[in-house]
Parts: sequence; C-alpha cells; structure tokens
Amino acid sequence: MINDPVLINDWLPVAVVKQLEEINLIAVRLLGEDLVLWRVDGQTLAWQDLCIHRGTRLSLGQVVEGDKLECPYHGWTYNTVGKCVSIPAHPEQTPPRKAVVKTYQAQEKYGLVWVSLADPEHEISPFPEWDDASYRKIFCGPYQVKAAGPRVIENFLDVGHFPFVHEGILGVRDRPVIEEYDSQIGPEGVISKGVRVYQPDPYGTGRGDSVTYTYRAHRPLTASLTKESDGPRFSIYLTITPHETVESTAWVWMAQNYGYDIPEQELVAYQDEIFGQDLPILQSQRPELLPLDLQAELHLRSDRTAIAYRRWLNELGLTFGTS
Ligand code: FES
Ligand SMILES: [Fe+2]
Repeated sequence: MINDPVLINDWLPVAVVKQLEEINLIAVRLLGEDLVLWRVDGQTLAWQDLCIHRGTRLSLGQVVEGDKLECPYHGWTYNTVGKCVSIPAHPEQTPPRKAVVKTYQAQEKYGLVWVSLADPEHEISPFPEWDDASYRKIFCGPYQVKAAGPRVIENFLDVGHFPFVHEGILGVRDRPVIEEYDSQIGPEGVISKGVRVYQPDPYGTGRGDSVTYTYRAHRPLTASLTKESDGPRFSIYLTITPHETVESTAWVWMAQNYGYDIPEQELVAYQDEIFGQDLPILQSQRPELLPLDLQAELHLRSDRTAIAYRRWLNELGLTFGTS
C-alpha cells in the first residue's frame, strides 16, 4: 500500500455502484493495494483481494449462498465480516481463528463506491446538487489518466488553459486574459471565487459571454466547480482514484438546471472531448509529481488557485503524487 497518511484516512472513489450491482464482484486497485469489492443486501464490502490460504485473488471467486465469498482455488468461503466459515477439504474442522481476510470500510454515495484504507477523518466531499431535483445529473467517464492525482486536480482548477487547450469550447485565443480573483484556504479546503473567463457559447444559446466560476478543492483528490449565474447553473464534481502514483481514474458528475431536452450522450460527448484535450497535457507534465515547493515552478496571479492548492496540500502533509 502507498502509505500516504492523508489519503489512507480519506474516502476515495473506486467504482460505479451500478456496475457492481450488475456483476457483484469487482477487482480494483487503490493506492497500490488490490481490493475486491462485492455486494450483499445492498451494501458494498471492500476487502484485500487475497485469500489467506494461498494468496489467491478472491475477485476470481464468486458470491455463494447470497452472502459469502468463495475463493476460486480451494473453495474456502468467507462471511460478510471476512471470517472464513468453511473449508471444503475438511468439513468437520472449524476454520482457524486467524483465517480472516483484511477488510476495509466502504460506502456508496453519489452513485459511486468509496473506500477508506484506514480511519476516515472527513465525510465524503459535499455535492449539493446531487439532492437538488432541479439539477440534471450526468455521469461522465471514468477517464483513465497516466498522471498523478494532484496534477489532475490542479488541471481542473486551472482556467488559464481554457483559450488554448479548449479553444472554441471553454475559451477563445484572442481573449485569454484572466482578471483578478480571490483564492482562500479554509477548513473546507481551497475556494476561489469570481474566476472569470470569456467563453464563445457558455450556455448553448450561441452567444459568447464572460462567465464566472467558483472553484473548490474539497479534499486533495476531490474538487468541484460552479458556473455562477442567476439563470442557468452548471457544476462539475470531480473525484480521482489514485491507483498508483502516476495512474489515476477521474470520475466526473456534471449537474445542470437547464437543457433537459439535450440527449445525455451529447452531454457526455462534450465532457469526453474536453477531457480528451486535457489528457495529453496531463500525461506530458514533468515532473510527474506535483511540486509543493512554490519555488519549483513559475506562478502568476492567474495561478492563484493552484498556488493555494499546493500550499494547502503542504499544510495537510500530503506526500502522495507530490514532491
Ligand atoms: S487459496 Fe483460497 S482457498 Fe486456497
Ligand atoms: Fe482542461
């Protein structure tokens, strides 16, 4: 396990609930640890993907009798708390007391399965639009990225790249100026308000306009943005699975209170395109680890959110994906 004290005590996303409902058993990798996820009575369990008999992957096994997990090798079965309850080769024998799989905490929220590898110190980051029926929610991704989680979050918090990487969609080349805005670090993480950028067609009406974003980094690997407006409102909730130091998965929820008639596919395709534009940038960045020493890269006023993010990660003592 990649033993980052901040991340192992955090909730991290690992899978889509719907997918797990369909196939019952999934293998995932989180911070260098192989996990098996399985479901019993509407609840997700997350265990180390390792049978204590001969180290076989339990995710190759199957759920039996509705509430037990059977190892594929010699058929040892484990109950929902990870205790071995049957050894088929010796039915008369009570399984040894040490025959217990390592278990982790898991919960479902926002349609995702979240796991904590130690003792979660925070709730899962808030996504207020989730419970607000006036918002349509669109799930995008998951996107695989060969980059460190903090680099992916920092890219999400960055508006200066819009006119170049997302030219014609999130910005235009001849209006690249980023005006002053405010960025703060608080108990809830990083928040930047009043981040303005000109966009050619921000609300799908065909008209260009300056839009104002609020950005938040709630946790080291979860962030959100909201396009501020009195009418149409749009938000994104982004959370990252750190599989390995430079191997991540991005899970994206878009929420909007307009455009109900637009086919979902079209909205997902929009996000796919944007993420596809960021991908080569992210995978090209060197060093791969996000430098927390503010002397290490160059920073401008428009990089305020990134500066605050790096400072905050430093304050939290995050070591994962950073240098
Ligand atoms: S390795 Fe799992 S039952 Fe033998
Ligand atoms: Fe981008």
